[in-house]
This record gives sequence, structure tokens and C-alpha cells, in this order.
Amino acid sequence: MDSIGPVGLQQREGAPGCSQEGLPCPSDSSELVLECLQQFKVTETQLQQIQASLLGSMEQALRGQATPASAVRMLPTYVGSTPHGTEQGDFVVLELGATGASLRVLWVTLMGTEGHRMEPQSQEFVIPPEVMLGPGQQLFDFAAHCLSEFLDALPMDKQGLQLGFSFSFPCHQTGLDRSTLISWTKGFRCSGVEGHDVVQLLRDAIERQGAYSIDVVAVVNDTVGTMMGCEPGVGPCEIGLVVDTGTNACYMEEARHVAVLDEDRGRVCISVEWGSFSDDGVLGPVLTTFDHALDRESLNPGAQRWFEKMIGGLYLGELVRLVLAHLAQRGVLFGGCTSPALLSRGSILLDHVAEMEDPLAGAARVHALLQDLGLSVGASDAELVQYVCAAVLTRAARLCAAALAAVLSRLQHSREQQMLQIAVATGGRVFERHPSFLSVLQKTVMLLAPQCDVSFIPSVDGGGRGVAMVTAVAARLAAHRRLLEETLAPFRLNHNQLAAVQAQMREAMVKGLRGEASSLRMLPTYVRATPDGTERGDFLALDLGGTNFRVLLVRVTAGGVKITSQVYSIPEDVAQGSGQQLFDRIVDCIVDFQQKQGLSGQSLPLGFTFSFPCRQLGLDQGILLNWTKGFSASDCEGQDVVCLLREAIGRRQAVELNVVAIVNDTVGTMMSCGYEDPRCEVGLIVGTGTNACYMEELRNVAAVAGDSGHMCINMEWGAFGDDGSLDLLRTCFDANVDQASINPGKQSFEKMISGMYLGEIVRHILLRLTSLGVLFRGQQTQRLQTRDIFKTKFLSEIESDSLALRQVRAILEDLGLPLTSDDALMVLEVCQAVSQRAAQLCGAGVAAVVEKIRENRGLEELTVSVGVDGTLYKLHPHFSGLVAATVRELAPRCEVTFLQSEDGSGKGAALVTAVACRLAQMARV
Ligand code: G6P
Ligand code: BGC
Ligand code: BGC
Repeated sequence: MDSIGPVGLQQREGAPGCSQEGLPCPSDSSELVLECLQQFKVTETQLQQIQASLLGSMEQALRGQATPASAVRMLPTYVGSTPHGTEQGDFVVLELGATGASLRVLWVTLMGTEGHRMEPQSQEFVIPPEVMLGPGQQLFDFAAHCLSEFLDALPMDKQGLQLGFSFSFPCHQTGLDRSTLISWTKGFRCSGVEGHDVVQLLRDAIERQGAYSIDVVAVVNDTVGTMMGCEPGVGPCEIGLVVDTGTNACYMEEARHVAVLDEDRGRVCISVEWGSFSDDGVLGPVLTTFDHALDRESLNPGAQRWFEKMIGGLYLGELVRLVLAHLAQRGVLFGGCTSPALLSRGSILLDHVAEMEDPLAGAARVHALLQDLGLSVGASDAELVQYVCAAVLTRAARLCAAALAAVLSRLQHSREQQMLQIAVATGGRVFERHPSFLSVLQKTVMLLAPQCDVSFIPSVDGGGRGVAMVTAVAARLAAHRRLLEETLAPFRLNHNQLAAVQAQMREAMVKGLRGEASSLRMLPTYVRATPDGTERGDFLALDLGGTNFRVLLVRVTAGGVKITSQVYSIPEDVAQGSGQQLFDRIVDCIVDFQQKQGLSGQSLPLGFTFSFPCRQLGLDQGILLNWTKGFSASDCEGQDVVCLLREAIGRRQAVELNVVAIVNDTVGTMMSCGYEDPRCEVGLIVGTGTNACYMEELRNVAAVAGDSGHMCINMEWGAFGDDGSLDLLRTCFDANVDQASINPGKQSFEKMISGMYLGEIVRHILLRLTSLGVLFRGQQTQRLQTRDIFKTKFLSEIESDSLALRQVRAILEDLGLPLTSDDALMVLEVCQAVSQRAAQLCGAGVAAVVEKIRENRGLEELTVSVGVDGTLYKLHPHFSGLVAATVRELAPRCEVTFLQSEDGSGKGAALVTAVACRLAQMARV
């Protein structure tokens, strides 16, 4: 207060409220006023410092670095694009907080690109002060009441109403319809709202009101509504600037610069929340005593200062009042007399300042206003008061310009553009009522951001239309989400459905073992024991039926098992050619391997992992029942494949091989893991195909004589459900995949679980979602219509936690799919639903098996290990965990350990061969 100092000031002696000091002559008054207003001058250097500090604070917040309370907040708004102009429909908009003590309800009709612009209908409701300061529920009930009052008066059809909620306070948004209030500003201070989701609070209030069913689909900050409301012709505006009771701006930032977002493409709208900017370093020098006084008296001292309280319309009137009161008390104005009105907070409002500051209004209007405040207005007072108004407003406009210039610099940085051409949508009554505000702002922005060509577009209806635009986008996304959920719902299996699969599999196992009609063939494998560690010798092993065909040399010694192997390809035309061709190819590989390993001419015992359903009549006899997994070589089904191999060997001169055993890859895997862990009595494959085997009580195996001991049973569970027992779970996408396969109607369970099919199921779902317009803007691409283009390995890649959405997009773009970030997210969800169902079904199968073993042995608790192999199980980030969780849920009395087989089932085949050789040896002795 000392800045003015007492010298030369005179006041009317003794009158109440009048200054005791001598009153200055008029010319001194104006000087003293101007001297007082000097402190409202902000130099260009100071503005540049504020611009730089604000920019620094913005970039710090964008990097996600902790920022002091006095910084800007940089809040993502989940608005990813400016309007396409295609938005259409009727929307209700509720605006709360933009214009202080009033809320507004609008009915906005968007006509898309075709239609002309429809004027929104709106109604404003004054919010009683006790509602602005009372319990939050009261405020939201008040809002819901205004909504229904507004809708009652409207002749339109009010079914399926969709509402956009413009809530002009700092919020952490986690979605277009999820937003948590950080702190109240601008005269609001309702209890029980900060830290809560304001959309839910509004939904609850509308529900309590019960008059209308209204779907709140989006919550939007008023700056975003202002930006989005920019007329398509003139825009698009990429900055939204509001100066009303409060002030703030939003702008379109490159998503990759927003650390909290997992995005690298496209833009996202950021609400700067510059109202809380208060870096004392740069603002300290421009603060006046009036600013400090205002903050102390305000509803939220210390908060939203200084920036909002130096610019926002809620405070400008108060600043003017404080200056006038000060000058009056110094005898400089109003004859040195104040009035109760002049001394009471909030008596000078934004509108008053607008009128008084308006050069056209003229001194007369100022006189009238000051008299209304109970002041005796001297000749020069009106003009001096206008100086005060102009000084306060000019400072506000210049500070606002410094902030806007910081946003412009930020855009230049993030877009690496020297010259930036940009449109700024402006909204708020300070713009509407104070034409000088915009002109000062424009001039100052040109000063501070000379390389930016900025056009200012006043928003036509305070952003209501923009909020409707965002609501239209949100409604579209919400509709898409509903369609996505509906499409994926059949893949979400609950406990009862999984328990039913377990029970049906159990029933099919028993029937299969008895030789009754069952989709589970329960094939005896003639493997009666898991290895006991006494096996020894060198063995050849073949591994056919998985992703790769391998020939292995397996050396079993006291010190363990040493494996040398070579992968060979089986081209599709050979796998689907003649049986002779296929087995000749196999023998070629064996000969090649023997040559490379220096084994030529040696006739080592050979174990043949043949991963297809075979009815075995002995360890070395297996009749192929039917091909699976893309194999269809002719003249094999119904044949003993060991004979086919021996015939092929026979066709090849000078090759001697001693085929001792044929095993299924599940059995090979169980034996391979059983070598390390004798409790391993189950073998599981989840790869190209899927299947399981386990050690069954011989007494339960009708096809094999004997009541004691065990027999390993190859379940061939891939065919489970071929009798229709899984039809309740099968989706139209499963049917599409089955119909397109080379064995329709076969391997139902496998086609819902294994690697050969999951990618195709996903592709069919993506085609459906594209046809519904949910994905890829409804554009069907040739690529996506190509069979097997979506590899199952993509599921494993896309679902890996370490992969950000951006990498998901990269995978999909390689497929030539034009996608948005929302698309990538939806594709991820489709993959998750398909792989989760596969893993749960697999888990239900394993639960059926281990429960069978437990009950076979009449045990309360069973501890058992399961040997597992297969690319899908091994590579998918979540598959194995989901299988184990499902087994724990469905077979709680079984302690199940899953052992991933390191050496594949070739080793297992060699061990089966070794056991056979040992038993044969003992038999010969
Ligand atoms: C391993 C086993 C093979 C089995 C395959 C299944 O490679 O050694 O016997 O067939 O896994 O997995 P895949 O993903 O290759 O079909
Ligand atoms: C709020 C902002 C809002 C601005 C303008 C500020 O007080 O924090 O969210 O955009 O006022 O209404
Ligand atoms: C075959 C099984 C094999 C499984 C895993 C299925 O298609 O029928 O024999 O175990 O794939 O490879």
C-alpha cells in the first residue's frame, strides 16, 4: 500500500468512510491513479519470461515429470481428433462451471456433412450460492432437475437421449466418460466431489431424478467444447481458449509427447489448466498488493493463483473494486469517500467492468454504476475509473497472451514447424463483453509469437456444439464398444460353462475307455510306465506333426540324455500329396541326418513321434485313423504308419532302420518330462494342434487285457465335441473356420484352442467388426480377407505386456490395415478374448484328466506333473498362466505342476524306445 504514499492527498475531514488526509487536486488525482495503475503494467520482458516459464512447466508436465502445485496440469482429454463434420444426431448438453453461478442445458442437432446448421435450443439456470458451496449430491441433483425441466419443455422425442457433460474444472480423465475432479475452482466448493468421478455423480443424480433415461456418454472441459465447436468452414481450430469466470486453454498435442499416454501416433487434446500457473519467480514481480488481497479473501486462497485470479472474469471486477477502494481511501477518488458496497467483496462484477470500460458506454453509464454503489462521483472520477478498468483488463489480456504464446511455442516445437498457422477458438464472456480484451490479446501474441499466424474464431454458442461433437464421437465409440462386447461375449466363458466342459470331457473319457461311442477315442499307447532312469544307449528319433519335422540322435547315458537334432521342412504339397511321397521325404531326411552325423549304415533303434490319431496295436504298430493339422497325404488313413515308414526305408537301398516304437507327441512329451520328474503322468500339447495323454489304470482300458498296472492313453482330445457336445459354445466364427478347413466337422476342440486356428478365428471376428463399421472405419481390405494372413503368433506378440499399443499398430499396419488407435485397442481385446477362451477350454480338459487320475486312485489330494510342449503354450504371454488358473479353479484337490518340455517329444520317443529295448532285452535274457 505504500507505493502510493501520503504526499499531497486531501480528504473531506470527519465524514464516515471518508479519508482523513487532505484531498489532491484533480490533476494530481489522475497522476496518482496512473501511478497506482503503473503496477498493473507488465513489460514485454516480463511477458516473455512468463511465456518461457509456462512453456517449461508445460513440457515438464507432458514428460510426466512431477511438477510443483504451482504448475500447469496438462491433462489428456481423450479427444483424439478435431471434428470430421460427419457427426450427426440429437444430443443434450449440460454445461456446468463455465459461466460461474449458472448452468446451461442445450439440445443440439448435428446434421453431418449434408445438412445445414441447426441452432441449438438452450436454457440457463442460476445456481443458488448454497448449492455451489453445499454437498456435491445437492449440486448434481440440481443439475438433474434443470435437465428434466428443460426436457419437459421440449416437444422432441426423448428416447435414447445421449448427453455430453461440459464440466469446466480440472479433472483427471481416464476415458471420454470417466473423469475425476482434482479440485474446485471459480466460486465452487461442494463437498464430496473432489477425487470422485463426476460422470458417475451425474448419472446417479439423473437416476435419482428418474424423469428421463439419459446416457451420459462424454465429459468435456469447456475449452475442448469451444475448440470442437469451431465452424468446419473456418477451422479446424486446434486451440480452445476460454476466458469467462475462469480461464484455461486446450490444444492438439502430438500423442507421442504425452508420457502418460501409451500412444505414438496421432494427436490428443490436452487441457493445459493454466489457471493454476503461479511461478513466483516470474509472476512475483507483476503481482500487486491487490492480487494478494484478492487471493486472501477468495474462496480458495493459494489455489488457482495467480494466473486465474489475474485473468478470470470472476476476479477482474474484484480487482477493480480493490483498486477503487484503495484510491478512495487515499482520497484520490470519490472525494476520498468509500461506501459499504465499495468495501464489500464481489460488489463489482465482470459486467460492471465491461460497461465501465466500454469507451462507447461513456462516462454517464460509469456515473450511474458508481452511484449504484453508493459513491459520490466527482467530475474526473468516471474517467479515472475507466483507467482502472482498462489497466486491470489490459493486464489480464496481456498475461493471457503470454500463456497463449507459450502454447503456440509448444506447438511449434512439437510439430517442428518454424512458421505455424493456426486457428484459435475463443469462448467466454470476457471475450464477448470486452472487445478490447481480444485486440490486446492479438497484439500481444503477435509480439510474443511473431512466427505464428494466428486467427481467432469466436465460438458461436459457447462450445455447446463442440460438446455435442465430442458426444457424437463418444457415442460412436460407445456404440462400437457395445458391438465389440456383444461380438466377444460368447468367448467369455464363466465357471459353470467350464465346469460343464470338464464334466462332458470326463463322461466322454469314460465312454471312450469302455469303447462306447465317444468323441474321445482314448487310444491305448502300449506305454505302461514312465522312464525309471535305467535306460541307456543311442537312439534315432523322428518328430512329425508339429510345426517342424525333426530327426534326432538321442544318447541316453548314466549322466543324462544328449540330443543332436536337425529340423527339416515338410512342404504343404508333400503333407497334402501322396503317402508314398511323404514317407519317402521322411526317409530322405533320415539318410541326410545319418550322413551328417556319421551314422550312415548304422541301424539304431528308432522311435517315431507321429502326432496324429493312431489306433495302436502295439508299441510299433499304429493305424492312422485320420489326418489332422493340415496333413491329408493319400493312402495313409487306415494304414499302419510304421509299415509305411518301413516300406519307404525298403524303397531306399542300403538303408537299415530298426523302427521300435511309434508314439504320439503327447506321450513323447510326457516321457521326456517324466525322465526328470517321475510324477509326470500327463502329456499336453498346445501347438499347431492340441491333445493330451495320461497314465490310466489298465483295469479301466477295455481295449487292452489286464487289470493291474497302468497304460498311457492318447486321448485325441482334439476331436472332443465332434459329436456336437460343444455346439453350445461354438460361435459363428468357429463355424467359419471349420467350414474353410480341410477337415470340416472334425477336431472341434482343437479348432477352438490350437495355433493352427486361433489366428483365423481372430481374422473372422475382425472381418465381422469391420463390416459393422466398428473397425477400420468399416473399410474391408483385401489383405484381411486373405486366409491365414493373421498368424496365431500375432496374438502372442499383440498380447505381450511389454508391447505398447504403438507396436500393436505396427504389426497391424504391416498387414496393410488402416487403423486408428481405438482400432488397435479393439484388435488387442479380440486377441485376448480368443486366446483366453482357448486357454480356459484347455484348462478344463486338464482338470478333467487330473481329477480322473485322482479318483482312479481314490485319493483325497493328488500331486501330479504335466509335461507340456507346443509353440502356442510356450510363446503366448498369458496362455500357460490361464490354463493353470483354470485347473486350480476346476480341480482344487489336485496340486498340478506344468513342466515345459525342453527337448520336445523326440527325446520321449527315444526313451519309449529305450524302455522297449530294455524290456525286450530282459525278455530275451
Ligand atoms: C514339439 C514336439 C513335437 C510336437 C510339437 C507341437 O516340437 O517335439 O512333437 O508336435 O512340439 O508343437 P507345435 O507348435 O510345433 O505344433
Ligand atoms: C478450470 C478449467 C476451465 C476454466 C475455464 C478453470 O477454473 O480449472 O477447467 O476450463 O476455468 O472455465
Ligand atoms: C493330433 C494329435 C496330436 C496333436 C498335437 C492333433 O491334431 O490329432 O495326435 O497329439 O495334434 O500335435
